[in-house]
Amino acid sequence: MKKRNVWMAMLMMPLMALATEVSSPNGNVKLKFYLDEDGRPTYELTYKERTVVLPSHLGLELAKDKHASMGMEETDLMEGFRIVDEQATEQDETWQPVWGESRDIRNHYTEYAATLSRQWRSAPPKAKPGMQLQPRQHDRRIVVRFRVYDEGIGLRYEFPQQPDLNYFLIQEERTEFAMAGDHTAWWLPGDYDTQEQETQQTKLSEIRSRMKEAVNWGNSSVAVFSETGVQTSLQMKTDDGLYINIHEAACMDYATMHLELVDAQTTALTTKLMGSSNAYTPAPKPSPYPLPRPFTFVSHLTPDATGLKGCMQTPCQTPWRTVMVSDDARDMLSSNLILNLNEPCALDDVSWIHPTKYCGVWWEMIVGKSSWHYTDDFPSIYLDNIDWQKVKPNGRHAANNEKVKRYIDFAAKNGLDEVLVEGWNIGWEDWACMWKADVFDFVTPYPDFDIKYLNDYAHSRGVKLMMHHETSSSVTNYERHLEKAYQLMNDYGYDAVKSGYVGDIIPRGDYHYSQSMNNHYLYVLQEAAKHHIMVNAHEATRPTGLCRTWPNLVGNESARGTEYEAFYGSKPSHTVTLPFTRFQGGPMDYTPGVLETRLENWSENKHIVHTTVVGQLALYVVMCSPLQMAADLPQNYEKFDDAFQFIRDVALDWDDSRYIDAEPGEYITVARKAKGTDNWFIGGKCNEKGHKVDVKLDFLDKGRKYEAIIYADAKDANYETNPAAYTITKKTVKQGDVLKMTEAPGGGFAISIKPL
Ligand code: NOJ
Ligand code: CA
Repeated sequence: MKKRNVWMAMLMMPLMALATEVSSPNGNVKLKFYLDEDGRPTYELTYKERTVVLPSHLGLELAKDKHASMGMEETDLMEGFRIVDEQATEQDETWQPVWGESRDIRNHYTEYAATLSRQWRSAPPKAKPGMQLQPRQHDRRIVVRFRVYDEGIGLRYEFPQQPDLNYFLIQEERTEFAMAGDHTAWWLPGDYDTQEQETQQTKLSEIRSRMKEAVNWGNSSVAVFSETGVQTSLQMKTDDGLYINIHEAACMDYATMHLELVDAQTTALTTKLMGSSNAYTPAPKPSPYPLPRPFTFVSHLTPDATGLKGCMQTPCQTPWRTVMVSDDARDMLSSNLILNLNEPCALDDVSWIHPTKYCGVWWEMIVGKSSWHYTDDFPSIYLDNIDWQKVKPNGRHAANNEKVKRYIDFAAKNGLDEVLVEGWNIGWEDWACMWKADVFDFVTPYPDFDIKYLNDYAHSRGVKLMMHHETSSSVTNYERHLEKAYQLMNDYGYDAVKSGYVGDIIPRGDYHYSQSMNNHYLYVLQEAAKHHIMVNAHEATRPTGLCRTWPNLVGNESARGTEYEAFYGSKPSHTVTLPFTRFQGGPMDYTPGVLETRLENWSENKHIVHTTVVGQLALYVVMCSPLQMAADLPQNYEKFDDAFQFIRDVALDWDDSRYIDAEPGEYITVARKAKGTDNWFIGGKCNEKGHKVDVKLDFLDKGRKYEAIIYADAKDANYETNPAAYTITKKTVKQGDVLKMTEAPGGGFAISIKPL
């Protein structure tokens, strides 16, 4: 790593405060940091001299802790600071991810750290008669650290170990992001429990009026905290064409951050919840500090069951708060800022982590044709008092030997690595019931699932089974069974688990995004690594780039996946929004590849999937993930065998990625070079308006000929009226050729290119 000290410019500010200015390596991004007249840490941000963040305060409010020692009655980490030290350095390194969008990632930034001191005198403790105790002088220090990149910044608070700050409780973090105008935003309602919502595209000033209808109130766990609260990653666009994205990186031992917008109607930051499925929700407390100007986002952490936001022990730090910015939307997708702000890989041996293409006994349950549970006889069960061999099966249980064998054969025939089997273990009869604690044991199969036979059979065919652990959000139950559950996986040769957190968290009161739950997800990941197990957690907290440090986190759901097409439907714009938002923190198990988009053609479900057939193929390239499902049923792939060829061929791990065009919620076109090969795959996806793009093959090797297989929407294709109209053509191509592609409404295209 190259590291050198850099000069900081000192600027005179109004009221004679001194500001430090720090530039990104190429000078496009400039950060200003200073203390305002009240000693409040303040920053500003520009991109190519255009305002990105207006003067915005930094700080935290602590909570009084009855167990804490003298001095802890002081809860203010907002104002009254002075700067006691400043350091600036430039760092430049290149590292190789275990899997991802490119082989090499450059991490090049200017770092600036200001050490701030806040002093106060506390009243003397009660003295015994005859003793004289003096008021005590306190000095509390925090560090505000910035990393300034060419495409944005990360900032975090650090709390060194010190006499006046050992253990502390966070009432709220008050990091401000003051926007310079009424930007267009792609947002999800701020929710402590779920991201399974459709993205809203509105002006900032319209968030409040849209909020109620934006919430997916039908989700199994909902906690919406404010009429102007939104989640991150939040994508915005200014009227003059700047793209701004706010998110966080490396969220560990800390609560997930949301943003609360101050608008013209805001009289106080959150004072009550808008709605929650969790009956134990305490009311958030309003802040005593003055409101910032309208169009300012203020951080809002997910509370725990008591309403507190963090339980900390120094030395410690917050996650990085990130602001990405560019005048080119493609930079929002190609930036590695979030990964770069995470710690390097923590695992010595990563040889057991691999890209995984899988199918599964899954979609037929989601669509409603078969069941996870084995019997319809019991409305409620205790796991340990049923002799499952004697129970009457319902005839719809999908995870049975015969069917799983068929899926294994299908995977083997088509080069898929693994077969997910959901509903293999006892407990599904009442799994989603109200707060059932002992819901699954994760080791006992139903009588029609022969775990040894099926794993042996899969291995004999060169395929693995993928484990499924639905926790039903009973997290202490899961932690109690975890070691045995992972041991079982090792015993039978499973190396990947899909886990799930449906419903409100048990023990009651905490949320999916609380500090305790973020610690749980990380604990599970670390234990899994000890057993060489890859993890794909559904309904878990939204990712913040931790997959750099723990690359066995190969996927997450944490957003509205394909399953919603079978419940309510998702707009065609959804899949061209997610890469700008949810994917900023890591890959998503979106479960694409549903080629029979009319569900009524094989089930009672009347919904359609809101893309064309070719649009589904494009998702494998547009949504970068080392774990990809071929979600449809084998019988449906037989119907579309020619299109399925692209799913068989497509790579999941890349040496290089080139974004060709992009606009949030409209279209994304990207070309990726498969790792360790000279093969390229190109995906283009659009919203309901359709899209035309000229794909210039300037990334191919000079003087070389390639064969391109082009999967395109037919002229009359349309995701609603004619989804299965597509053409497949072969063509010889070379560097510099231009492929003129037309995408149908809700459609896209997919191209595979191999050297001849
Ligand atoms: C919700 C998950 O997103 C889905 O994929 C899974 O099948 C069900 N929970 C059951 O675990
Ligand atoms: Ca889900």
